Amino acid sequence: MAWSYERTMTRYENDAGPRRTGLLVNLGQRIVELGPGSGVNLKHVNEASEVPSDLEWIGVEPSAPMREKLLLRAKTDCPDLKIRFADQENGIIDVESSWADTVICTLVLCSVPDQAAVLAEAHRILKPGGRLLFMEHVAAPRGSLLRAVQSVVTPFWMLLTDGCKLNRDTGAVLARAGFRHLELVDYRTTPGATPFFVRPHIYGTAVK
Ligand SMILES: C[S@@+](CC[C@H](N)C(=O)[O-])C[C@H]1O[C@@H](n2cnc3c(N)ncnc32)[C@H](O)[C@@H]1O
Repeated sequence: MAWSYERTMTRYENDAGPRRTGLLVNLGQRIVELGPGSGVNLKHVNEASEVPSDLEWIGVEPSAPMREKLLLRAKTDCPDLKIRFADQENGIIDVESSWADTVICTLVLCSVPDQAAVLAEAHRILKPGGRLLFMEHVAAPRGSLLRAVQSVVTPFWMLLTDGCKLNRDTGAVLARAGFRHLELVDYRTTPGATPFFVRPHIYGTAVK
């Protein structure tokens, strides 16, 4: 997965890159990124900061190959950013409560076993007033033909993508996750950036 991820993501990133730049602003000093993968967001985090060496960035990344790729990428994309990884045991992330100004979560909630549990951890880690920034591909509207296609394709897609589910109502789970204010935008990737059944996306912010 770590090996193939960047190769398959080039077209996707042409579409998603500007959205990441727009989303990853006003991050504060203390940032936790859930599932940073190979570190695609790091350059956006770096660009958003006036003094990258003052930032505290903690990644929660279960995949050792992904962590290695991230550390390599960080050498060029954000050499001044201090990189730390936090462990996770039984879903509990080793970061103290109310620590973070910002939690970043992009393209992660499609594959975690329990979305609500991950969002509860994001909420716990955030300071009051802190923000969760998210971007996820999601299920098409209930009853649509596209939703039916997503449900048929998901078991095969999961085999190819380390457990990624196409038919999750992530927006609804976010709405129930206990955040004070949720701003969520529905959008579709431009044709060709993803297979058609991965086009429905959401992005936005949730404030603790
Ligand atoms: C599709 S990649 C997304 C990488 C990056 N965030 C992006 O926007 O391209 C999903 C990442 O989430 C990680 N992941 C899977 N389960 C996780 C969990 N429970 N907590 C944190 N990260 C997880 C995977 O190892 C993988 O690196």
